[in-house]
Amino acid sequence: MTELPIPVIAIDGPTASGKGTVASLVAEKLGFHYLDSGALYRLVALASEKEAIDTQNGQKLGLLAQKLVISFEKGQIILNGEVVTETIRTESIGLRASAIAIHPEVREALVGVQQDFRKAPGLVADGRDMASVIFPDASLKIFLTATAAARAERRYKQLIAKGISAKLDVLLQDLQERDARDSSRGAAPLLIAPGAQVLDTSELSIDQAVKIVLDWYQSKPA
Ligand code: CDP
Repeated sequence: MTELPIPVIAIDGPTASGKGTVASLVAEKLGFHYLDSGALYRLVALASEKEAIDTQNGQKLGLLAQKLVISFEKGQIILNGEVVTETIRTESIGLRASAIAIHPEVREALVGVQQDFRKAPGLVADGRDMASVIFPDASLKIFLTATAAARAERRYKQLIAKGISAKLDVLLQDLQERDARDSSRGAAPLLIAPGAQVLDTSELSIDQAVKIVLDWYQSKPA
């Protein structure tokens, strides 16, 4: 008997679409592992900032990405022995992450790290290229999106709740800049992968979005 592959639910989408929250809750409900692939790009961004590597130097950034020691333990993210869970969440690291993510050398260095998250009983992975590049055989592919205004407002509330000061108009501009760069880059651009189902969460609560993803997953033939 041939063994069935470990199931993957791939959730891609633009910044602040809610994919991280939805993906981690879906993983929790199903008892699956969870991959926040954006955190990996944020880690490379942070490390490259510390080492003052130019965001345009793909070769150096790729080498850096290859040698990072990363671990996810009990909700904490550890980079080269240092807890950086909160440090990587700033807007400036997000923007730097999108700038370094254009380089194929960086993306290639992270492929194996991401695929290693695929463990029984299953994985929910969120990012930009989960369905198109990292897990093209995912059982369910979702493109989670929302209007730019709805996303800017969500990001604003998230930051304020964390005690980080923010301005709505600056956030809207930042996310439009990031959308444009993520969608237009040559390497693994943000796109609706063939076979992906689009879920617009502008008018949905988190619980409603989670329920829809679970319904779609459960209604898929095994
Ligand atoms: O939280 P947010 O959606 O804003 O960003 P993120 O998922 O933490 O990702 C930060 C940046 O990393 C994105 O703007 C992308 O440029 C890049 N990224 C990527 O290129 N591929 C992925 N699979 C995940 C993130």
